[in-house]
Amino acid sequence: MKNIVVMLSGNGSNLQQLINAVDSGRINGKIVGVISNKADAYGLERAKQAGISSFIFTRKDFESNLAMDIAIANQIDQLKADIIVLAGYMKILTPEFTRRFVGKIVNIHPSLLPKYPGLNTYQRAIEAGDTEHGMTIHFVNEEVDGGAIILQAKVPIYPEDSIEDVMERVMEQEHRCYPLVVKWLCDDRLYLENGRAYLDNQPLPEQGYALD
Ligand code: GAR
Repeated sequence: MKNIVVMLSGNGSNLQQLINAVDSGRINGKIVGVISNKADAYGLERAKQAGISSFIFTRKDFESNLAMDIAIANQIDQLKADIIVLAGYMKILTPEFTRRFVGKIVNIHPSLLPKYPGLNTYQRAIEAGDTEHGMTIHFVNEEVDGGAIILQAKVPIYPEDSIEDVMERVMEQEHRCYPLVVKWLCDDRLYLENGRAYLDNQPLPEQGYALD
């Protein structure tokens, strides 16, 4: 059974979906730790309620981003993590960190990458007059929101939509898709080779697996 570490900075609704999927036996893995860079992240409360150990690393306690990432990486090693799931971890990881865990880290991002990496993706999509938005799950490499795409899901944007309307639709997709991808990783069905994502030994298309 795979050991999973989840890294977050905020609400942790994606963590909650993973906890539920592990509890119900849908994911054949164990969440061995939750790491947050924010002491007040609600995700820490969710971890506590689920009996999962949590670890807080705040930037002010370290001399540099690298020193902080090394401390986090050492904690992850101690937890014997096989899979690192970024679930709303809102601090850019150093290349030293991402290289150390290449093929083991996945991220979820609220846009149809490569469109809108970074912040405020909902606002940017609405202001651009886009008629669709979505979410992307991808392997993590040294580029922010870069790395081989595993799965994308699209949602519509209607003319009268607020940011909250679109966010609600995207989050619904995130909650549906992230447990599925973590399940694939736990079942050794999904892996990264030479910068490309493979599912069941087949290379995935550039835009990832096409969900029905
Ligand atoms: C999610 O929407 C995720 O896509 C986003 O943060 C949110 C966390 O929600 N991640 C990023 O923007 C990463 N670039 P949650 O804390 O409720 O799971």
